[in-house]
Amino acid sequence: MDHADHVRLLRDGVTHGGTWADLGAGAGAFTLALAELVGPGGEVIAVDRDGGALRELERAVRRDGATVRTLSADFTKPLDLETLDGVVMANSLHFVRDKAPVLALVHRMLKSSGRLLLVEYDTDRGNAYVPHPLSFETWRALADASGFTGTRKLGIVPSRFLGRIFSAESVRA
Ligand SMILES: C[S@@+](CC[C@H](N)C(=O)[O-])C[C@H]1O[C@@H](n2cnc3c(N)ncnc32)[C@H](O)[C@@H]1O
Repeated sequence: MDHADHVRLLRDGVTHGGTWADLGAGAGAFTLALAELVGPGGEVIAVDRDGGALRELERAVRRDGATVRTLSADFTKPLDLETLDGVVMANSLHFVRDKAPVLALVHRMLKSSGRLLLVEYDTDRGNAYVPHPLSFETWRALADASGFTGTRKLGIVPSRFLGRIFSAESVRA
């Protein structure tokens, strides 16, 4: 995947402006796409427990998009974030076995009608590298049960690893 793929996977779920968080941002592949789509005047908070990855992200940030702020933290614990316009979780929820408590935290971070964009391998069978992935159908049921609505697929990218990657948008009910 390249930057164009990252932008394409998120594009239809992102509105211009506002404050977004990228949980499990890593070195920022999706943070940079998100910052481009949110645009000047908006803010993206990149959260990761890996400080080294966040430093790498800070070096890659462009000045012509949304402001990018980094936060070194564990997204399975409460974060001091609220009334966000949107949250992106790209290839990070699959590290969590018990996803409902994390989704409850994400729900609390979002304003009413805020967006949760998920990027994941489209499979329910994990491995050593991707321990707890979830297919789009599993995600839709879990999102419905976690206070989100309107879950819809935004895009798909074929992947040699685990077949394909989907992106999906859910709305905080
Ligand atoms: C596979 S990388 C994905 C990075 C980026 N989102 C992407 O798609 O290129 C997963 C990232 O999630 C982070 N991560 C996993 N569990 C986390 C947690 N509980 N709290 C914060 N970050 C976490 C890891 O440190 C890692 O940087």
